Amino acid sequence: MTFVDLSNKLSFSYASGKIILVGEHAVVYGSQAIAFPLEQGLRIAIYPLKNPLKDQGPLLKAANLLETDIYFSKKDQKFGAFYDVLEYLLSVFGEQIRNLAIIIDTNILPARGLGSSASLSVALIKALYQYFNWPLSQDLLINHAEKLETIFHMRPSGIDHTVIIKNKPIAFKKIDNKLNTWDIKQGCDLTFVIASMDAHIGTKNAVNKLSYQLSKHTQTYTRIFGEIDLIAKDLELAIIDGYKVRIGELMNVAQGYLNSLGVSCESLEKLCFIARNSGALGAKLTGAGGGGSIIALSDGNAEEIKNSFLAYGYQAFISTTKVL
Ligand code: PMV
Repeated sequence: MTFVDLSNKLSFSYASGKIILVGEHAVVYGSQAIAFPLEQGLRIAIYPLKNPLKDQGPLLKAANLLETDIYFSKKDQKFGAFYDVLEYLLSVFGEQIRNLAIIIDTNILPARGLGSSASLSVALIKALYQYFNWPLSQDLLINHAEKLETIFHMRPSGIDHTVIIKNKPIAFKKIDNKLNTWDIKQGCDLTFVIASMDAHIGTKNAVNKLSYQLSKHTQTYTRIFGEIDLIAKDLELAIIDGYKVRIGELMNVAQGYLNSLGVSCESLEKLCFIARNSGALGAKLTGAGGGGSIIALSDGNAEEIKNSFLAYGYQAFISTTKVL
């Protein structure tokens, strides 16, 4: 690599992806949600550029996310959110970030409901604080991540970056606009198979679409959010008890409600049925929906479920969360 000066200091960071077991969308309106970190994630390396061009940096290289390297100064509408992110970083870290190369390597596909933007936000802040040797508390990290997630999604509930920062299963609920999160101590290891189709329409668009539907069917949708809240409470107990069959069944019920809210789609339903027909205990979409990914709970048959997805031409991978 000739564009970086490796004789100088460098820093690395990592942030996982995430899945939502129950409560996506409904969480925006105050329902409880449950999220788990993924075993897969995103890595960032930060180096000083060897020959920084005045006012051009930082250089952003993200082989799995961006078609080309981008320099902060060369504005391109196509990468709008990335520039807004860099603008924010400039406001926090100042001009000193202009001579840096930020290299991102991820196996979390963007816009698949797997927390790609949140893991990027968290890893960026961690790497830069480490690079400058600034102290970073968890609260400060949450605060910065929320600002970056707001650039990506406009009004994020906060569940994505919270579970990624905590890096353990959490329940999450907004009461009177105040975030309440608590850890969930799972009673058994849980292995999920994650299958992805095309990118979803974007979290911001999906949330706006649902908000429009809610304005037309306020009472009906509000009742559904209430049901999802109850499912989340049951699911939390099932996770604590390690009652896998019940977790799977509740995931299936949650998927029914997500479909009724209009955030599923034909391919996501198909993926859920492939999973269930292959022996998954339960399956549901995860994240914004309308595309993206589903999660299937396995029962010692993760490879079999994964192979079914692959046979149908979908991408799939396995992630296990172990009892701590
Ligand atoms: O960005 P995604 O696809 O991981 O979805 C986030 C979950 C939503 O509930 C749809 C939005 C939010 O901010 O909670």
